[in-house]
Amino acid sequence: TMKSLVLGIETSCDETAAAVVEDGYLLKSNVISSQMEIHRRFGGVVPEVASRRHVERVTSIIEQALDEAKVTKEDLSAVAVTQGPGLVGALLIGVSAAKAFSFATGVPLIGVHHIAGHIYASHLVEPLRFPLVSLVASGGHTELIYMPEHNRFERLGRTRDDAAGEAFDKVARVMDLPYPGGPHIDQLAKEGSPHLNLPRSWLEPNSLDFSFSGLKSAVINLLHNSEQRGVKIEKADLAASFQASVVEVLVEKAVRATRMKGVSELVLAGGVSANSALREALAARCQEEGITLRVPPLNLCTDNAAMIAAAGSYRFRDGQFAGLDMNAIANLPL
Ligand code: KG4
Ligand code: ZN
Repeated sequence: TMKSLVLGIETSCDETAAAVVEDGYLLKSNVISSQMEIHRRFGGVVPEVASRRHVERVTSIIEQALDEAKVTKEDLSAVAVTQGPGLVGALLIGVSAAKAFSFATGVPLIGVHHIAGHIYASHLVEPLRFPLVSLVASGGHTELIYMPEHNRFERLGRTRDDAAGEAFDKVARVMDLPYPGGPHIDQLAKEGSPHLNLPRSWLEPNSLDFSFSGLKSAVINLLHNSEQRGVKIEKADLAASFQASVVEVLVEKAVRATRMKGVSELVLAGGVSANSALREALAARCQEEGITLRVPPLNLCTDNAAMIAAAGSYRFRDGQFAGLDMNAIANLPL
């Protein structure tokens, strides 16, 4: 087993977060400062506003994470930071803070891919078992990743347009629901029936890619047409029908990927894994298929730094350090 104590920093979107993780899986502290309330009035994340808020918060959030973990800088093995993908201005704040920390303390620097972080959220609950397939569905990404072992990632599929969470947020917006819309659609859908006819985009046979922009347009068209014809559509039914379409495709492709790779471990990750319908449908389907499903607790589904510290711990184990010339990369490949 690995001995390590890693400080994680995450600022890729609208959460300023820092955390300390021991030996790759033991959560010592997990501090998250969300900007959600600030961005809500704009109906989405405003990059410049996000960056400024990160600047104001990042230093004290790091101090708090170290305090709560009761560790000093001298105890740390490494400082791991989200290098990308994400909003470049937002990423830069975390990367600059991590570099300054590393330079001032001599603690080695590690860059972490945000998607890798999301997958490692589950590792903080129970060790990941390999080989595995992970469905990562968030506001910025919808990807299927194969991991033969720690720290190795192979992308099997990705969205060709909108991410699943982005589709939730955009559909919520046309339905006048607050930002971020995912949780609101989830709640509203519980009171509706998924009877409205909306498309499922399967793409080519056997494709593991996703596409959600057609579905989003179909929802918008349905709303506009019904308004013009004076027909009332129940919002709860619309939420349920939209959600059912997203969930059906996500579940089917995740199971398909798992079968194609011949693995029996499926790890759900990213903000959309908080969705109750997705959790239920995937759990039921995995049970039928004899697949072990791992779902992170709600507080580790959305962006946090504990997952970055956990993923960073395995880069530390493998000696994958970054230099002080490391840059934030908005579209960093996995
Ligand atoms: O992982 P995350 O916190 O940030 C990114 O890396 O993007 O994911 C945020 C996304 C948002 O689009 C949000 O609407 C969605 O996750 N989300 C949900 C739910 N909770 C959060 N989507 C559907 N149902 C939910 N319950
Ligand atoms: Zn994320």
